[in-house]
Amino acid sequence: MPNNTWNRHHILSLADFTAAEYNTVLKTAASFREVLSRRTKKVPTLQGQVVANLFFEPSTRTRSSFELAAKRLSADTLNFASASSSMTKGETILDTAKTYLAMGTDIMVVRHKEAGVPDAIAQEMDRLDSRVSVLNAGDGQHEHPSQGLLDLFTICSLIDPIQPRIELLQGKKIAVVGDILHSRVARSNIWSLTATGAEVHLAAPPTLLPKWFAEFVEGEDSPIANRKLFIHWDLEPALQDADFVMTLRLQKERMTAHLLPSLREYHQLFGITRKRLELCKPGVKVLHPGPVNRGVEISSDIMDDAELSLIQAQVTSGVAVRMALLYLIGSGKSV
Ligand code: NCD
Repeated sequence: MPNNTWNRHHILSLADFTAAEYNTVLKTAASFREVLSRRTKKVPTLQGQVVANLFFEPSTRTRSSFELAAKRLSADTLNFASASSSMTKGETILDTAKTYLAMGTDIMVVRHKEAGVPDAIAQEMDRLDSRVSVLNAGDGQHEHPSQGLLDLFTICSLIDPIQPRIELLQGKKIAVVGDILHSRVARSNIWSLTATGAEVHLAAPPTLLPKWFAEFVEGEDSPIANRKLFIHWDLEPALQDADFVMTLRLQKERMTAHLLPSLREYHQLFGITRKRLELCKPGVKVLHPGPVNRGVEISSDIMDDAELSLIQAQVTSGVAVRMALLYLIGSGKSV
């Protein structure tokens, strides 16, 4: 397994990921995809290590796929769900993390509805001089690095399944459509997709893609100021000749104001339909991180069309990519 370019101890954000790091993840994930195609889909890489999934917010695919990835690497897994934990008795997040540290946890996979919680746990682990690595599995509206990486892996693998690498996306056009304001998936994808040299076109109504957000991502001080990012407040220019269309869920649980007249109107203006996809390049593919509001972000028939939709491929990629991330941050820990 290639890990000679890997020095990162925690994975909290993609904002400062380098091209070499992206390619190491893609290459490592491709090796693990091969492992997952074998009859015995398990390797002893993280035997004896403990991976704790600390999910303070609900999740289906991210949690299950991190758990499966850890098991495929032969790690021991601990699963925490806040609703059935001592948090209901008033224990703080850092105390919960320290409890898992005391049990010998090596890697903490953390999801929380507030931005910055995985970061805070990582800082506490460093302060205590522990060797624990923290992996952000989605924090508030901030970032969802493993999702960004699995989306990248899914797209690059479609072009070259044997050697997926970011250079394959140079000159491609990728539209990102939907609730960009509230989406941590959008943020991680903005960093990763623009790093490839692709043209990334964001499209949403102004309430879900406010001007200040556009100024932040396009501004001189932005880490991606010189990359190819375009902002649209209508859908058509983003879809025109696009190679990939990434749709995002309307994050109803994160909307504090009524930012949309109705879901039906959203679908009429920004929903991805077969007719609208005619604007894209022939062979266009549609992505969605799930869970999907069927018939809102994307019409139901596209979701189930195996030719057009990469949604199931994204879920499958998730296991190989998360194995790669656990391996890359975990392999230095073996005694
Ligand atoms: C995303 C999340 O939780 O941020 N889902 C996921 O991890 N697969 C996107 C979402 O909830 O819309």
